[in-house]
Amino acid sequence: MQQQSSDKNFKEMLVDQFNLFLQHFSMETDMDPQIFNKGIYYIIERRYEVLSLTGEPSYINDILAYCLMLTKQFIYQYNQFVQLDKNDEMDITVLHRTLFRTIEDVLTREQNLEQMESGLIFVIREFLKEIKNLFYRIFKDDQTKELFKQTLNYQYSPSLQLDVLGINVEKLEQPVLDLGCGFSGKLVEYLNDKNIKTVGLDREVEDRANLIKADWLNFQLPAGLWGTIISHLAFSNHFIFNHLYRNGSPEKYARIYMNILASLKRGGSFYYAPGLPFIEEHLPSGRYAILKSELAEKLPDREKFHGVVNADYFYGVKVTKL
Ligand SMILES: C[S@@+](CC[C@H](N)C(=O)[O-])C[C@H]1O[C@@H](n2cnc3c(N)ncnc32)[C@H](O)[C@@H]1O
Repeated sequence: MQQQSSDKNFKEMLVDQFNLFLQHFSMETDMDPQIFNKGIYYIIERRYEVLSLTGEPSYINDILAYCLMLTKQFIYQYNQFVQLDKNDEMDITVLHRTLFRTIEDVLTREQNLEQMESGLIFVIREFLKEIKNLFYRIFKDDQTKELFKQTLNYQYSPSLQLDVLGINVEKLEQPVLDLGCGFSGKLVEYLNDKNIKTVGLDREVEDRANLIKADWLNFQLPAGLWGTIISHLAFSNHFIFNHLYRNGSPEKYARIYMNILASLKRGGSFYYAPGLPFIEEHLPSGRYAILKSELAEKLPDREKFHGVVNADYFYGVKVTKL
């Protein structure tokens, strides 16, 4: 058994290796054999280190948590409208746990390198097959496939976001919350650099100051706190998806939408795009002022949004709490 001093790095390298398997795996075709074989040789070459990690419960739990994080990142990147629940997370963890157990079995049982190689090929192919099944379960019906076709999960420049939403930075009420700020919270950083107190929230964020890793579906928003809430191609986009998708949760989104408005200070505003005509028309006019802006040309990637976000939703909104 090798020393464990370099385990921390190796742990990450090993998980990155499995992440590579994931990144190169496709729903339609088999993995590129070159990448696949390179991965197998990597595990065989480093087998003693692999065994020193998989045999240690505290290490394996770390590895499983890291694998779960990377797999979630991969799935959300693949399709931003997927909402993984606790059961999905459990399934992903169990798949990885089985993977590491069976790799451990092969590496301890097989003495001969060729047998080791064919054992690993089998084990990892099985793992990828199971991951594929998990994906098929997530994309379970025809409407899902149709709606899930458009799956952008980009991050946009602060200037584009401000332009689309018609925000004048000088007039922003503070503090600001950027809901669905994107992995690196570019707008959050931009506004803080201008001394505008801003916090970003996203289910996938870097570990950085002013960024909160949380799911807006279960994040508590205290009443009357925010001067401004911004959500560019984020909350409302997902609300539309849930509104259109037969297995969606539009009521949940409607409740959160009302919580967002309640969490504004009086005079505070919620800026978002695309628009939500089916809810805006129900807001009491004595309590909220609604300003809509045309942005048929400005909304990024609108071609690709076609089908999920059709032209009815191509506008930006500022809802101000009176
Ligand atoms: C298209 S990106 C837009 C990011 C950013 N607002 C921009 O314009 O650059 C949508 C973001 O919403 C986030 N998101 C999706 N569902 C979420 C949820 N349930 N809770 C928190 N963030 C979520 C995604 O992780 C993603 O970063």
